[in-house]
Amino acid sequence: MTDLFSPIQLGEYQLPNRIFMAPLTRARSLAGAVPKAGLKAQYYSERASAGLIITEATAISQMGLGWLNAPGIWNEAQQKAWSPVTDAVHEKAGHIFIQLWHMGATVTPDFIEGKQPLSASNVKLEGEFRTPKQRKQTLVEPRAMTLDEIKMVQDEFVIAAKRSIAAGFDGVEIHAANGFLIDQFIRDKTNKRKDQYGGSIENRLRFCLEIIEKVSKEIGAGKVGIRISPTNTVWGLSDSDYLKTFSRLVERLNEFNLAYLHVLEPKPNTDHFIETIGYITPKLRELYKGTLIANGGYTKETASKSIEANEADAVAFGSPFIANPDLIERFIENAELNTPADDSLFYTNEAEGYTNYPTLNQLRKTA
Ligand SMILES: Cc1cc2nc3c(=O)[nH]c(=O)nc-3n(C[C@H](O)[C@H](O)[C@H](O)COP(=O)(O)O)c2cc1C
Repeated sequence: MTDLFSPIQLGEYQLPNRIFMAPLTRARSLAGAVPKAGLKAQYYSERASAGLIITEATAISQMGLGWLNAPGIWNEAQQKAWSPVTDAVHEKAGHIFIQLWHMGATVTPDFIEGKQPLSASNVKLEGEFRTPKQRKQTLVEPRAMTLDEIKMVQDEFVIAAKRSIAAGFDGVEIHAANGFLIDQFIRDKTNKRKDQYGGSIENRLRFCLEIIEKVSKEIGAGKVGIRISPTNTVWGLSDSDYLKTFSRLVERLNEFNLAYLHVLEPKPNTDHFIETIGYITPKLRELYKGTLIANGGYTKETASKSIEANEADAVAFGSPFIANPDLIERFIENAELNTPADDSLFYTNEAEGYTNYPTLNQLRKTA
């Protein structure tokens, strides 16, 4: 029977298990959004036993970046700094996709020389971000992208994908989740456009699907995944019919033969679960013909059940990977998990809280 430890074919890759590392923003970059190569090489290669590592969200352009010390992959310096990271993961026989990110309306002006951020329409979202100049800056009204800007941003995704492959990544994950730019186009709370990119569901999906098509054409669909979070209402984003909108997106994604679809969803009985909508991953599973990764609050036990019941092909774990570089080995041995010491260390620029969590082997040596 297929279980968490069964190998899986994902696009063009044969992976050793179905326990994937979910994307986790962890900062640790230099000025100019250049990742701290040595530190990130250590952090990711320590987690190389995951069936697949999906990196932290990585910006495709300066206009798309509004997270302090988060990395980018839009220029040569950033690309070069990622190379040792992918080498270190490959040396340990791991596989690593990079998550490609444009924050759209959630970029605050401090990051973009006081300019207005870009979005589908001029709908302001809710939230505040730490910036290079201030502890907190509140989100401002964004500017609706022109048709030329739509094409330009799509091309930026393509260029970033090309650079990602050149930097040695096995593939890219298009970040269409968590209320960022692509999600702002998909949902009707933020998409009030009257042109071919707004209005009907088909039109709201166009920006996303064109990115998928262009990136797939450039690097091959077997190297492209997509992440969605249909019911996530982060930054006050919402949709008038989540199930209809995202069901249609998933149906349309079948056209591409992608490496995977990655669905982030709160679990029933948790704070962010919307009772009136229910748990929609099983419904999307019925519609999607390719490989489906589930994520959101899974434990080894619930993930095993999910795989055994064929609700998903793989399960991504986020928080558990923060403090457990050897999560796979711990699952195999049914060992206790480390808990992250302090969430104030999630987004600092230092090694502490990043690469200082002991593996089982290290603990045994010091015992
Ligand atoms: C510190 C932290 C950073 C995160 N960064 C990202 C990110 O860069 N991109 C993304 O899509 N999700 C991000 N997430 C969400 C996780 O990928 C994951 O969906 C979430 O933690 C739920 O999975 P879990 O219950 O296994 O932790 C982040 C979550 C945490 C806790």
